[in-house]
Amino acid sequence: MTSNDLQKLFEKLTLKEKICQLVQLSGEFHEDEIISVGPQTQLGITKKIVDNSGSVLNVIGAEKIRKIQSKYLENNKNKIPLLFMADIIYGYKTVFPIPLGLSSSWNPDLIYKAYKIIADESTSSGLHVTFSPVADLVKDPRWGRVMETLGEDSYLNSEFIKSMVTGLQGDLKDNSNIASCIKHFAAYGAPEGGREYNSVDMSERKLRQEYLPAYKAGVDNGCEMIMTSFNIVDGIPSTGNKWLMRDILRDEWGFEGVTIADYAAVQELIVHGIAKDEFEAAKLAIEANVDIDMKTSIYSNYLEKLVENGTIDEELINESCMRILKLKNKLGLFEDPYRGVNIEHEKNTLVSNENREIARIVASESIVLLKNEKNILPLTKNKDKICLLGPYIDNKNILGLWAFHADTKNTITIKEAIENKINKEFLNYEEGCDLLSDYSFLGKFGKMASFDTSNISKEDKLEKAINIAKDSDIVILALGEHTMQSGEGGSRTDLTIPDLQLELLNKIKKMNKKIILIIFSGRPLILKDIIDKVDGVIYAWFPGIEGGNAIADILFGDINPSAKITMSFPYNIGQIPVYYNHFNTGRPSMTSSVDARFTSRYLDAPNSPLFPFGYGLSYSTFEYSDLSLNKNILMSGEILEVSIEVKNISNIKGKEIVQLYIRDCVGSVVRPVKELKKFSKLEFNPKERKNITFQITEEDLKFYKKNMEFDSEEGDFEIFVGKNSEDCLTAKFYFKK
Ligand code: NOJ
Repeated sequence: MTSNDLQKLFEKLTLKEKICQLVQLSGEFHEDEIISVGPQTQLGITKKIVDNSGSVLNVIGAEKIRKIQSKYLENNKNKIPLLFMADIIYGYKTVFPIPLGLSSSWNPDLIYKAYKIIADESTSSGLHVTFSPVADLVKDPRWGRVMETLGEDSYLNSEFIKSMVTGLQGDLKDNSNIASCIKHFAAYGAPEGGREYNSVDMSERKLRQEYLPAYKAGVDNGCEMIMTSFNIVDGIPSTGNKWLMRDILRDEWGFEGVTIADYAAVQELIVHGIAKDEFEAAKLAIEANVDIDMKTSIYSNYLEKLVENGTIDEELINESCMRILKLKNKLGLFEDPYRGVNIEHEKNTLVSNENREIARIVASESIVLLKNEKNILPLTKNKDKICLLGPYIDNKNILGLWAFHADTKNTITIKEAIENKINKEFLNYEEGCDLLSDYSFLGKFGKMASFDTSNISKEDKLEKAINIAKDSDIVILALGEHTMQSGEGGSRTDLTIPDLQLELLNKIKKMNKKIILIIFSGRPLILKDIIDKVDGVIYAWFPGIEGGNAIADILFGDINPSAKITMSFPYNIGQIPVYYNHFNTGRPSMTSSVDARFTSRYLDAPNSPLFPFGYGLSYSTFEYSDLSLNKNILMSGEILEVSIEVKNISNIKGKEIVQLYIRDCVGSVVRPVKELKKFSKLEFNPKERKNITFQITEEDLKFYKKNMEFDSEEGDFEIFVGKNSEDCLTAKFYFKK
């Protein structure tokens, strides 16, 4: 539709109809009139509102969506199609690894391909908008939603957000592309104590320097929508925060797309204690520029009154409504309200062999090798007698919490994948134990995700495992968190592997067996007490439907692992938050000696994490040498070239992620001890040597200065290039304006 026609349509709408565009209801309001009576009555939502509401939440499927859209259009006087939105965070039917795994690939180009697949599959099932990607920066693994994030570094986050948004959206004229909604704006990843929905409180400098850039990367790359966060920002919940939603998002960043409140967040303004009632909540949210009210009836019930009694300017509603109509128009819904959706195409698109192939590559680039004592890995096929143990060894539930729409039948387990690689006589299998000894703390969700339906006692299970382990040379043990122990509402204060599983590990250890541990988890777990008990550790995250294949590929050397962690693995719980780009303090701890009393350190634990940001092993061995700069003084407008020699000294082809960090030695405000500025993932043939050159300009040196201006400052800088945030070669330069 031309913008003129859109304007004409808009002008025809009554105030009530415009407000209805701002209302997002869940599927039950549309799918079945009988079911919908309950929630409609409860929320005070009339048939008229349903018939004019602008969008639908979490309904999916070509047939269902066609049906709802067509019925809706029959009743909708203005023939404005509904927008269908859902949470497709890291895969619809072809589920990829959780985002914390995806970022461990350090391969935004590959992740772009994954998000194109996500768009293609989701749109084939009728969706128009996905609530993805998550741009929340995180530093605290107690928070269950770290699984949805890209880790602790703001630059790396932004690079991935760019590739995810462009992968999802491309050109929306193409029906296989989907509008992307960045979330949760802002700073949702920094709740105090890592407790879900808890308060966030930080300086504006920290917010701008570290937490906002990834959301901004989404805006700069054209994301169509932004979702508010549940938390407060400087004392005001995001959903009612005018400074955040209007001054920063609209005025500073120039965002012209749609904003949406997270689930019932408009209602929660009352619970936060910032609005006294629904009337005030509606006022705060609309004044903060929140266009869509997800899952409450507050906009539908109060906005009209607010206009009528002169509390708010009708123009606010006009602006919001127009933004939503523009998005519908961009998606081509006025020409084809179904965007070409049909069941046949859906069937051919979902979980195709090509999609599975990419999912396998993505998983293998996301899984991190954390330990490989005496090069126990890769294993030789059909040589040693292998015993497969643990509750995750033959478990299809390795998709992570947000794979709501997936079908676990599509998952390949580790056992299935290994059986395809080696002869049966070399394999033994027992589960050994269940995931948890008690599911009650997970409420109704716990049992849902439990897969233990047998009546075998805990003791018998363990004994069976021990018996088969006796006859084997190597034990592959797949342990980890229950899916429901991470994700939304999955905050924990104990980040160790559940006790029942540790018991199994300890029993096997006593038998003096070689152990390869595969860990499934939505977060970095605390591995201090188990790391020395095992010979190899593969950190699989929740790796998606091709996870089993990717793990087997790595175990047997068909794939050389290349992933590196993007969130520090704490040494113990008391260290949290622990992250690589901290400040120096006035008394940095340079030594772990007990005499270093009055320095910034713990008496009972090191300052460093167990595994630092950027860490991960390969079957190849890489050597770094000859770090050199093309000049010692960088002037504004010039380019500093930083070169390093990297050699694969092994006979195994492999990929290495070369990382460049910078330290601004003196600033008008203190600067981190290191900040990631560049990285490059490259493949090396056996014995191959490569000279890698990174380019640094003034832009890379900018930060929020004392006066909050984003700019550079003259002075000394240190460069670090290496294989992870701790193991680097260093050089120095001076920057002059
Ligand atoms: C609440 C979550 O915070 C958000 O990420 C999600 O998109 C909405 N629910 C909708 O399901």
